[in-house]
Formats: sequence, structure tokens, C-alpha cells
Amino acid sequence: MSDLKQLDADLSRQMNSASVLTSQFTDQEVAASIYNKDAGFTARLAKQTRDNVSQFARRDQVFEFLKPAHNPLLDTRHNMLLYLEGVSVSFDGFKAINDLNLYIKEGELRCIIGPNGAGKTTMMDIITGKTKPDTGQVWLGSKLNLLKMDEAQIANAGVGRKFQKPTVFECLSVWQNLELSMSGTRSVWSVFRAKLSGEQRDEIERVLVLIGLQEQAAMDAGSLSHGQKQWLEIGMLLMQKPKLLLVDEPVAGMTHQEMDRTAELLNSLAGAHSVVVVEHDMDFVRSIASTVSVLHQGSVLAEGSMTDIQNNAKVKQVYLGE
Ligand SMILES: Nc1ncnc2c1ncn2[C@@H]1O[C@H](COP(=O)(O)OP(=O)(O)O)[C@@H](O)[C@H]1O
Ligand SMILES: [Mg+2]
Repeated sequence: MSDLKQLDADLSRQMNSASVLTSQFTDQEVAASIYNKDAGFTARLAKQTRDNVSQFARRDQVFEFLKPAHNPLLDTRHNMLLYLEGVSVSFDGFKAINDLNLYIKEGELRCIIGPNGAGKTTMMDIITGKTKPDTGQVWLGSKLNLLKMDEAQIANAGVGRKFQKPTVFECLSVWQNLELSMSGTRSVWSVFRAKLSGEQRDEIERVLVLIGLQEQAAMDAGSLSHGQKQWLEIGMLLMQKPKLLLVDEPVAGMTHQEMDRTAELLNSLAGAHSVVVVEHDMDFVRSIASTVSVLHQGSVLAEGSMTDIQNNAKVKQVYLGE
């Protein structure tokens, strides 16, 4: 309950600012409000929405939701979506990433493997803007320099990241989780008013089918299995229509059946999205059957099909043979 009081205080403070937008409510606050049926919150939200409507009349600013889903500068004419070139980063003198080159095509599904400490997570941190490299180039398409953008800008430009631990709203239904993650004109207001356009419903349905959770749509996310939660989280990322999806160890803790289903899901996403999967599980990587890059001491040691990789002497030495 004290959490709610804190929320209340925070919100009152927000309301004092003249130009608050509904987007300032975090998903957690909205979830808490739906769950607790907090009438005060809803009333404030309505007022805020009225404030926002009056802001519509202003012509001196462009609102987030009026902007195109993808950065117009995203240029993939050359068929390449992500370039990392000569990237290095040191932590306390230790080169975690060392002259790394990586090129991901549009619609490609790429697996990244490598022993612990090889730099896989750091590489994802660099792509998403969480870590800035000491040297090198990181581009999305040929016009978006990711090194000049912060984490939020990179996410808005179409880079989605799925962390190992699923972070779904357990108290909300599968459908509501997807609804809250929707990109574009989706506002908190319309979540409360339950006014979804036909197109938006279709989009949620499409993602439900893709992640195989149609039958669980009305279930609380908290009652899903571990694997189902992982798929829901991938679905939540898909609602934001990312160009590039980064997935860190998706099958850790999954049953064999769930692993097979995850391989199918990731394969089905390729084409419409570029997908980069970091994974330890060799059987899983084999079942995805995509190009594999082996990371070792912060750079790419080998790249090719899983068969090429398995027959590569250097790889055997540092990784598969260990
Ligand atoms: N923020 C950090 N500070 C210091 N060292 C780090 C930091 N992040 C990663 N490292 C080090 O960089 C190396 C690569 O780590 P990481 O990218 O997590 O590897 P992987 O994901 O392949 O296991 C490791 O030796 C790790 O200890
Ligand atoms: Mg890691």
C-alpha cells in the first residue's frame, strides 16, 4: 500500500507540470492501476488526457505518436541492416571487445556463440547503446550512426532486445501484455477505454498466433509456463515492430519441446525482421540452422554454417573441444 502512496505522490508532482503527456506513466504504474482499480489514478489520467488533447492545437511541436514508426533515415538499400566495424571496448584495461566486425543482413537470422566472457553480452550492450565503445563504427542501415544515439533513440529506431529473464506483467492477461506493448498511436487512455481499432486487434491476434498463445490470450501471464513467458516477451517486442531483434539465451531453462517451438518461432521471424540470437545450447543453434558467428576474446573467430564451424580447427580448440 505504501507503494501506492508513493505512486500517488509521484503522480501529483507530475500533474503540476503543465505539459505532462500520458506517456509519462510507466507500464508498471498503469499495470498497478489496472490491478488495484485505483480510481484516483484513473481520474488524474482522464485530466491528463484532456490536457493532452488541448496540446493537440499546438503547432510548434511534433508528438511522438505522430512520428513514423521507423526512423526515416533508416536506409537498408544495400541490404545490410547492422554494421559493426573495428569496434573495441576496454574495462579497466581489459579488452572485452577487440576489433570486432559484424555485418547482419536485412531479414537474416544469425546465431552468436562463444565461451563465457567472449564478449557476447557486451556486444549487445554496444548495439543497444548501453555501452559506448572506445573505437569503431556501429551503424543501423547506412545512415543511422548508433554511436551518436542514446538507448531510447536506438530502441525507437527499431532495435528490440530480449533479456534472459522474462519481464512480463504477471497480473495482466497475455492480451493486455501485448496491448500495453503496442507501438504507434497506442496510448494509456485507450487501454482504459478498451478502444482498439480493428487494425490494432488484428495486430495483437497476428502476434498471438505467431507466438502460439492464442488459447492463453485471456490467461494471466503469471500462470504461463517459463517457455510461454519467454514467447510472450518476444511477442511484446514484436508489438513495437522492431527491424532488429536481439535475443540473449532464449532457451535457458526450457524443456526440449519448448526449445523446438522457440527454434520454429525465431525461424518464422526471420525475413520480416533481422534476428541476432546469442545462445550456449549447441543443439538449439544447430536446429536454427542459420549462419553462426563464433566470438572469442572479443572478436569473431569464425563464421559460417554450423557444419563449417564444427569442422573449424580454431573453433574446436577454443570452444567446441573444451
Ligand atoms: N561493465 C563491465 N565492467 C568490467 N568488466 C566487464 C563489464 N562487462 C563485461 N565485462 C567483462 O568483459 C568480458 C566479456 O563479458 P561478456 O560480454 O559478459 O561475455 P559473454 O556474454 O560472452 O559471456 C568478461 O571478461 C567480463 O568480465
Ligand atoms: Mg553473456
